[in-house]
Amino acid sequence: STQPTYDLLQRPIRDLRISVTDRCNFRCTYCMPKEVFGDDFMFLPKDELLTFEEIHRVARLFASLGMKKVRLTGGEPLLRRDLPLLVEMLLNIEGVEDIGLTTNGLLLKQHAQALYDKGLRRLNISLDALDPDLFAQMNGRGIKPSIILENIEFAKSIGFRIKVNMVVQKGVNDQEILPMAAYFKEKGITLCFIEFMDVGNDNGWSYKRVVTKKQMFDQLSAVYGLEPVEQHYFGEVAQRYQYTDCESEVGFITSVSESFCSTCTRARLSSDGKLYTCLFASQGFDLRNLVREGVSDDDLLAEIRNVWEVRDDRYSDIRTEQTAINRKKINMSYIGG
Ligand code: GTP
Ligand code: 5AD
Ligand code: SF4
Ligand code: SF4
Repeated sequence: STQPTYDLLQRPIRDLRISVTDRCNFRCTYCMPKEVFGDDFMFLPKDELLTFEEIHRVARLFASLGMKKVRLTGGEPLLRRDLPLLVEMLLNIEGVEDIGLTTNGLLLKQHAQALYDKGLRRLNISLDALDPDLFAQMNGRGIKPSIILENIEFAKSIGFRIKVNMVVQKGVNDQEILPMAAYFKEKGITLCFIEFMDVGNDNGWSYKRVVTKKQMFDQLSAVYGLEPVEQHYFGEVAQRYQYTDCESEVGFITSVSESFCSTCTRARLSSDGKLYTCLFASQGFDLRNLVREGVSDDDLLAEIRNVWEVRDDRYSDIRTEQTAINRKKINMSYIGG
C-alpha cells in the first residue's frame, strides 16, 4: 500500500461509507418526508450509479490510503440488486478488515442468508419505536415493528452480529427509550440511541427536538446499572455502556451534544460516485467522471489524496440553529448517514 494520508486536522482515512442507492422503501418522517420524496421525486437514473466494478476500484484505492472499514448504506442498500456480490468483491480487497451494512431491515428475509454466505457478519438495523402505530407512522409506509423484529431474530439466527439504531426525537418517540432498552437488553442485542441531527434541509430539525445523551442516560440509569465500555478503536462513533447485570450493551451517538469531529476518520461515497468528506457537506468531488474518462489508478489516487489533504470539516463542532437552517446540506437518503 502507499503512504497513509491525513487531512488538515491530522485525521487519517479509516472508514469508507458507501451509499449504493438513493432509493428507499420507507419514508421516515425525519429522512425522506413524503411531501418531499413523493411519487414524482426524481431519483438517480441507473446509468448514473457507480457499477460494482467502479465501486470496487474506488474502494481498492481508498484501502491503499489506509481505509480499513467499509459501511454499505443507502437509501436502503438492500434495494440494490446483487448486493451480496458487492460484499464479496469488497472483502477481497487487501486491507479491508471489516464490512458492515446499515439497513431498515424490511428485506432481510430475502437477502440475509446470501449476504452471510458472501462474508458479511455485521448488520446495523434501524428501528425507532416498538409501538405499532407510532412506528408505522414514523416509517411513512405503515410497516409494523413486528416485521422488523422478526427479521432481526432471523438475521441473528443466521449468525449476524446486530446493532439496532434508534433516532430519538423529543415529542415523537422519546417515550420509547425505556421500552426499547428493556426489549433489546433482554435479547442481548446492542441498542444505539442516536441524537436527532440536522442532516439535509428538509427534516424539521431544531435543538428543541433533540434529546441529548445525558437526558437519555439519566432515564436509563434510573432503572439500570450501566458501566462505560472501552472504545474498540480510535474514532469509534458510539459511546458504549454495558449493563451491570448482563452482557448486553447500549450505545449513544452524540453528534449534537458531544460532537466527535476531532477523531472523524470517515469518507463518504455517494451512489453516483461523489466523494464527500462530511455528512453535512454541501458539495462532493466527482470521482465517477474521472473513472469513466479512463483515468489511471495513480491519477485517481492522487485526486482522492488531494481531496482528503485539504479537508477541514468539523460541522458538528460548529453547529448552531443558524447553520442548521441556512447551510445547504446533502440529504440523508442520498449519503446514508
Ligand atoms: P459501526 O460503528 O460500524 O457499527 O457503525 P456506525 O454506528 O458508525 O454506522 P451507522 O450507519 O449505524 O450510523 C449510526 C449513526 O451514526 C447514524 O445516524 C449516522 O449518521 C451517524 N454517524 C456515523 N458516522 C458519523 C459521522 O462521521 N458524523 C456524524 N455526525 N454522524 C455520524
Ligand atoms: N439524525 C440522526 N440519525 C439519522 N438517521 C437518519 N436520519 C437521521 C437524523 N436526522 C439514521 C437512520 C439510520 C442511520 C444510517 O442514520 O435511522 O439508522
Ligand atoms: Fe428511513 Fe433509512 Fe429509508 Fe431514510 S434511508 S427513509 S432513515 S429507512
Ligand atoms: Fe465527521 Fe462531519 Fe460528522 Fe464531524 S460532522 S464527525 S466532520 S462527518
